[in-house]
Amino acid sequence: MGKIIAIHSYKGGTGKTLLTLNLAATYAKMEKRVCVLDMDFRAPSLQSILQLDGSEYWLNDYLNGTCDIKKVLIDYTSQCNCGGEIFVGLANPATEALRDMSSKDRKWEMRALGRLLSLKNTLLNDMELDYLLFDTSPGLQYSSINAIVSADLVLVISTIDTSDIEGTRRMTQELYDLFEKKTAILMNKVPVEFLSSSIGKDGVYKRFETVHTLPILKVIPCFCDVLRSGGITVFSRDEPDHPFTKHLEDIAAKMEKF
Ligand SMILES: Nc1ncnc2c1ncn2[C@@H]1O[C@H](COP(=O)(O)OP(=O)(O)O)[C@@H](O)[C@H]1O
Ligand SMILES: [Mg+2]
Repeated sequence: MGKIIAIHSYKGGTGKTLLTLNLAATYAKMEKRVCVLDMDFRAPSLQSILQLDGSEYWLNDYLNGTCDIKKVLIDYTSQCNCGGEIFVGLANPATEALRDMSSKDRKWEMRALGRLLSLKNTLLNDMELDYLLFDTSPGLQYSSINAIVSADLVLVISTIDTSDIEGTRRMTQELYDLFEKKTAILMNKVPVEFLSSSIGKDGVYKRFETVHTLPILKVIPCFCDVLRSGGITVFSRDEPDHPFTKHLEDIAAKMEKF
C-alpha cells in the first residue's frame, strides 16, 4: 500500500513547495505513481509553478463535498515526462477562494478531514498510487493539521533561522509529538560553507540537534541556481545532474525506508 507524506513547516518560504514537487518528480523518475495535492489554500502555487491552465474543479471543491477527487486530479505524466505517473490536485488561487477558505468553521474542517482521510481508499487503494504528497500551509492552519493527521509520514522543513528553529521545536512538542507519526526534519537553504566548516557543525547543527528530538533526514544547501530559476524549474526533472537533484534522490531513498 502507498504512503501519504505531509510536507510542513513552522514558517513560510522554507522550501516546502519546491521540495514537494521535486520529490514527486524524483519518485516519478523511479517509475512510481505519485500525486501532489496543493493544500496551501492561503497561497496556492502549484498552478503557476507547473504553468497549468485552471481546472474545472479544484481541491477546494473536493473538500467542500461538491465533486469527486478524480475530477480534481490533472494527469501531469506526459508533461512531466519523467517516467512513472504523476498527478496533481490544484488549490484555487482566486482571491475569493482564498477568502472563502480562510473563513471555514470547525464543523467544515472536521468534514474536510473526513474527505482527506478517505483519499487513502480512493487514491492509494483504487488508483494504486505509491505516494500521495501534501504540500501544506505553514504553521497551525487547520488545513495543515488535517493534512498531518491524514499522513503516514511528516517531513518538516526548517531553515537555520533562529525563529524557525525555535518555532519548529515548539511545533514538535505541541503538534507532531501528539500525533505520534513518523516525523523527520529537512534542514533547507543551509549556506554551503556551513556544511563543511566548524561554524556550521559547532553552531547551527549543534543548536538544532540540542533543541530537537526529531531526526534530521537531510541537510540541503542553499543553491543560487534554484533561486535563479524563478521557481518554475523542477530540477529533478530538468536538471538530472544538478547537485540539488542528487539531494532529492537521497531523500527519496531515505523516505522509502523511513
Ligand atoms: N535549497 C534551496 N536553495 C535555494 N533556494 C531555495 C531552496 N529551497 C527553496 N528555495 C527557494 O525559496 C523560495 C521559497 O520556497 P517555497 O518552496 O515556495 O517555500 P514554501 O512552500 O515553504 O513557502 C523559493 O524561491 C524557492 O525556490
Ligand atoms: Mg509553498
